[in-house]
Amino acid sequence: MKLFFLCFSSVCLVVFAQSRVIELKCNPNYDISRIVNLPYRCINGLSCFFEHIHVDENTNLILNFDETNYGLDCVGFVNTTISELPSNLFNKYQAINSLYASNIGLLKLPPNTFQNASNALDINLSDNKLRTLEARIFSPCRYLRKLVLHHNDLEEIDMDAFDNLNDLEELDLSNNLLSVIPHKALGQLKGLKTLILGNNSLNVRYGMFPESLVTLDLSYNKLENFTLKSIISLQNLKHLILNGNRIYRFRQHIFPDGILDPLKSLKHVQLSDNEFYCTTLADIVIWLEKHKLKIDVEPHLVIVNSSNIRGVGCKEEQRFFL
Ligand SMILES: *[C@@H]1O[C@H](CO)[C@@H](O)[C@H](O)[C@H]1NC(C)=O
Ligand SMILES: *[C@@H]1O[C@H](CO)[C@@H](O)[C@H](O)[C@H]1NC(C)=O
Ligand SMILES: *[C@@H]1O[C@H](CO)[C@@H](O)[C@H](O)[C@H]1NC(C)=O
Ligand SMILES: *[C@@H]1O[C@H](CO)[C@@H](O)[C@H](O)[C@H]1NC(C)=O
Ligand SMILES: *[C@@H]1O[C@H](CO)[C@@H](O)[C@H](O)[C@H]1NC(C)=O
Ligand SMILES: *[C@@H]1O[C@H](CO)[C@@H](O)[C@H](O)[C@H]1NC(C)=O
Repeated sequence: MKLFFLCFSSVCLVVFAQSRVIELKCNPNYDISRIVNLPYRCINGLSCFFEHIHVDENTNLILNFDETNYGLDCVGFVNTTISELPSNLFNKYQAINSLYASNIGLLKLPPNTFQNASNALDINLSDNKLRTLEARIFSPCRYLRKLVLHHNDLEEIDMDAFDNLNDLEELDLSNNLLSVIPHKALGQLKGLKTLILGNNSLNVRYGMFPESLVTLDLSYNKLENFTLKSIISLQNLKHLILNGNRIYRFRQHIFPDGILDPLKSLKHVQLSDNEFYCTTLADIVIWLEKHKLKIDVEPHLVIVNSSNIRGVGCKEEQRFFL
């Protein structure tokens, strides 16, 4: 078998040409200030980063034994292109609380990827090319609190993908290609507080969200016929974000009378960048303010130089209709 040694600034690779297996080591002295919004334990715990690994789909990555790194809190990947995570990542580093694997070209998560990730609390897999999440893929991570999957190519999520994640508080699936999410997938996440689904093509269906939700972001989903009736069970919901949809209907359709009895925690609503006529929006604003709900507007969405109500843009209607 042929051996190649490839060395970069801080990483050495041993390449076995025939089996196409690459062994690698991470850098415990990586300058974490180069990344913004790293998980907490990557900043304050013991961390180690893999850098400058670029391999194709046919290469298996295997981690070297590295005793000094056994108790790592965080492992990250930077300046790297790999289609799968190293197969023994969590076998080697069982203590890992945080995984930072954003923007490294991941194409898939094979079934055993997280088999030994039972200590994971926080996983960031954003900006990859994942297309599907298979059944029970995250189930070994039974204490997981935060899962970040924004900016992937996700089209399909198995109804059992999030089984066992009873502690999950925050899930970000924004900026994907989702049009359907099975009811069970999200509905069973009994501890979920923040769900970010912006920039997909979702339809909201009755009963698809867990009752624990406090913040629900449904912005930029081309929603046209959305009504709060479809989320009637969300008694803990405080923030509802509906910017960037195609909502235009009358107040009674979107906010039917009496809806705030079941949705008793709702306090903040975002409605910018929809298709409202100004008269319709005025009725909505009157009703929301009467019920002490706040209309929030993201600073970059505030309209000042065309028709708007409280900074929320709307269309003037010439031919008045009811
Ligand atoms: C995930 O990582 C990306 C890339 O560094 C970062 O932009 C994003 O803010 C992180 N997401 C969260 C929720 O921490
Ligand atoms: C990626 O590598 C380039 C060149 O070596 C470096 O300038 C840059 O800071 C690295 N990015 C990160 C996130 O480490
Ligand atoms: C998980 O750990 C078990 C026991 O050490 C081992 O047999 C298995 O191969 C590991 N799985 C992965 C994907 O690392
Ligand atoms: C959706 O995309 C728009 C435009 O790119 C961006 O401004 C917005 O922050 C995105 N929303 C979410 C929830 O990611
Ligand atoms: C909204 O409802 C109208 C009329 O019922 C229907 O024609 C349209 O396709 C619906 N839009 C969406 C995005 O489902
Ligand atoms: C306000 O809009 C008008 C036309 O609708 C335009 O001529 C003017 O430059 C705009 N002003 C600013 C400050 O954008």
